[in-house]
Amino acid sequence: MKAVILYATRSGTSEYLANGLLAELEKNKIDADCNDIATIDFETEFTQENDDNVYLFVITTVEGGNPTESLEDFYDWIMNEDTTTSNFKYSIFGVGDSRYTETYQKVSRQIKERMSTVVGEPVIPCAEGDNKETIHADFDEWTAKVKQYFSYSSTKYRRYPFIGYLRNTFLV
Ligand SMILES: Cc1cc2nc3c(=O)[nH]c(=O)nc-3n(C[C@H](O)[C@H](O)[C@H](O)COP(=O)(O)O)c2cc1C
Repeated sequence: MKAVILYATRSGTSEYLANGLLAELEKNKIDADCNDIATIDFETEFTQENDDNVYLFVITTVEGGNPTESLEDFYDWIMNEDTTTSNFKYSIFGVGDSRYTETYQKVSRQIKERMSTVVGEPVIPCAEGDNKETIHADFDEWTAKVKQYFSYSSTKYRRYPFIGYLRNTFLV
């Protein structure tokens, strides 16, 4: 199982967080890579062949509640009601700022809702980071859940789920 981190940033926050997650996963010997979502050919990426991947989206909402330029192609594709895709594994961390009250997290929330229909439920609960105050704590909390998912899903703990449960509950 591999973590594929995909970020969509304009001024660097999501990229910074995504790289922090990559470092943390690598430190824990979890196979992972990290890419700008604009570099992904999502029509061929999200296929059955890649169903061992867990896609971790770190995506920013910018003014007017819009996607960043780098997210536009993915956004148009996933929001299109004719789009179908495999039931790939994913979770989403939305980056925004609650001072933008009307459109706070608009893009990550839209994508989250759309993906729960077209892809399925996330394997790790989605989360949001508020750049007004708690973004780093929010991100650390999500990162812990990502690590927990990978350690629980590893073969060793799948064979002995109770040990995995204890380990995740008391050590993560
Ligand atoms: C001009 C501008 C408009 C923004 N509009 C929104 C918005 O509508 N909703 C939201 O949640 N955050 C909004 N934000 C906050 C950004 O999401 C936040 O600053 C984020 O950390 C930027 O991430 P990035 O560095 O990955 O681009 C806006 C920020 C700026 C500078």
